Amino acid sequence: MDLQNIRFEKEGAVATITIDRPKALNALNYDTLQELLYCFRQLARDRETGVVIITGGGEKSFVAGADISHMVNLEGLEGTEFARLGHEAMAAVESAPQPVIAAVNGFALGGGCELAISCDIRVASENAKFGQPEVNLGVIPGFGGTQRLPRLVGKGLACELLFTGDMIDAAEALRIGLVNKVVPQAELMDVCREMAKKITSKGPVAIRLCKETVNNGSQMDLGRANHYEAIQFGQCFASADQKEGMQAFLEKRKAEFTGK
Ligand code: CAA
Repeated sequence: MDLQNIRFEKEGAVATITIDRPKALNALNYDTLQELLYCFRQLARDRETGVVIITGGGEKSFVAGADISHMVNLEGLEGTEFARLGHEAMAAVESAPQPVIAAVNGFALGGGCELAISCDIRVASENAKFGQPEVNLGVIPGFGGTQRLPRLVGKGLACELLFTGDMIDAAEALRIGLVNKVVPQAELMDVCREMAKKITSKGPVAIRLCKETVNNGSQMDLGRANHYEAIQFGQCFASADQKEGMQAFLEKRKAEFTGK
């Protein structure tokens, strides 16, 4: 696929996806969502890439939402179809085998906030702004915001953001647990790359199983989820990484993981 709206770059075990439509503050139109899906379909089969970073092109915006100029003339079921495409893209991010870090470099509004909360980890620059302003446009969030936001920050805080459409700054996002950390804008990508590097130095099989277990377990009650965790824990023992990781500890040396 010829990518027009996204830059998809790989450096070693880290892939970076940049939503790159700065003139529209990186808003997600139909084509951009298709391109995002394409990238994550590649990543689903990619054993070389250990971590993915998603960011926005330009200095001002991560993603300022779904594209309003695309949505303005949608009728009835076309709205549902567009939301389904958005959901498919968000689910592809969430269920990617690699951990996904959102490097939030500015506005993360509507579909942009929904993209950020589909990622596993969010690092924000000091100028980042978050919000679900859909009610200002006479609609509700359509890419998972009504569901993932309450699960992340709790129902009360989520409802306040969803019903008022207010934007919050990075410090407030940190306070309510919407982001993991806030850093100066100039340091954002370095901080994310450092975090990515640390993750890729761990046992790759364990990282993949860990993400899968967190995600699938969060859909289950605690009893079933713990039962599932025990099975997933057992899966680790079928890997060379587990033998190497534990042997290296006992031999007081650094583990050399192979991802097998
Ligand atoms: N869709 C399409 N275009 C957008 C956009 C969006 N979501 N957000 C910004 N743009 C465009 C603007 O129309 C403008 O284009 P022109 O230069 O051609 O006029 C350009 O980006 C720059 O934007 P502004 O001039 O508005 O920049 P600003 O600094 O004055 O304001 C902003 C920045 C506060 C983010 C403002 O652009 C804004 O409020 N954007 C809309 C945010 C929004 O409502 N997002 C939710 C969309 S609905 C949604 O996402 C539904 C869903 O859940 C699926």
